[in-house]
Amino acid sequence: MSSRALLAIETSCDETAAAVVTDGYDVRSSVVHSQATLHADWGGVVPEIASREHVLKVIPTIRAALDEARVTPSDLEAVAVTVGPGLPGSLAVGVAVAKGLALAWDKTFLAVNHLNGHLLSAELDGGHVAFPAVYLLVSGGHCLIAYARSPGTYELLGQTRDDSVGEAYDKVAREMGLGYPGGPAIDRLAAQGRDTLSLPRPMLDTGYEFSFSGLKTAVRRQLEHGPVEPKDLAASFATACIDVLIAKLSRAVDEYRPQSAVVVGGVAASPILRNRLVEELGDRTTVTLPGLKYATDNAAMIGAAAWRQLEEYGASSEAVQVEPRLPLAAVVRGEA
Ligand code: KG4
Ligand code: ZN
Repeated sequence: MSSRALLAIETSCDETAAAVVTDGYDVRSSVVHSQATLHADWGGVVPEIASREHVLKVIPTIRAALDEARVTPSDLEAVAVTVGPGLPGSLAVGVAVAKGLALAWDKTFLAVNHLNGHLLSAELDGGHVAFPAVYLLVSGGHCLIAYARSPGTYELLGQTRDDSVGEAYDKVAREMGLGYPGGPAIDRLAAQGRDTLSLPRPMLDTGYEFSFSGLKTAVRRQLEHGPVEPKDLAASFATACIDVLIAKLSRAVDEYRPQSAVVVGGVAASPILRNRLVEELGDRTTVTLPGLKYATDNAAMIGAAAWRQLEEYGASSEAVQVEPRLPLAAVVRGEA
């Protein structure tokens, strides 16, 4: 193989994922085993079920990623893994396996921040981000806005005070009996309905912080009090969420005048959000989105973040432990 390659492993939540990524962020393989059907009956991720499934699937997933990329361990330079943030038991599976493989194969070990992975997801497979950039990260676990003057220099502008937007989608979908994960189900229904219910747009006119728990409660009240057309409820909820996301990002675009607005994370897979971003921000900045398969959790983005980290900070210590509450942009070097 001509360029350098590493193996990346991601087990922070309910996807067991492995990828082979080159130092140019080219994805040679990206295998994702979604556990969604296992958690669907419970309406959300059950941590104990998630970690047990990671134990069963992590080695076959790694093997599939190596096979698909047509590489053997001798072709690899490093083994990278998500160390946080995420579910402690789930993270522990990936970290233990990655450390073991790095040791057995005598490779560089890289402990990666899941959030940094999401932020780099738009640069996979030749994607280009122009700087300065503002980032909106919208996933099941996170909802935040950051400013980056140059690559990798994230300044947190604001985040959610309570639920993340993906979490709100998942909880509303559960109340509506739409199953898990809620995002795609609500999106499909919303596409057929209309925004008729005037749901609240929390914190629309202030700063860069978010709050989605009140909106979730407003949906519950609608379900309790009236006959309501599910497709209109879905459309009203999705529109309220997206109005808030776009208002915050629009404020950041006006204040920071970035070359690009980069929207990443599972909710960035929403076609409704993607279309509105381009419509409403496209005349002021370049809207940059990851490919659909790199919006939701995957290991390719962890591989890209690992290369960036290796260039800037070098290898991680194998003494690093899982960091379930790791904040944005903390690089794990292993001194802690
Ligand atoms: O990034 P991700 O896979 O995992 C975390 O890091 O949390 O995001 C998962 C979240 C879930 O809440 C899911 O409902 C949401 O992303 N999601 C969507 C869509 N696809 C996934 N939300 C809205 N529309 C979608 N099409
Ligand atoms: Zn994620």
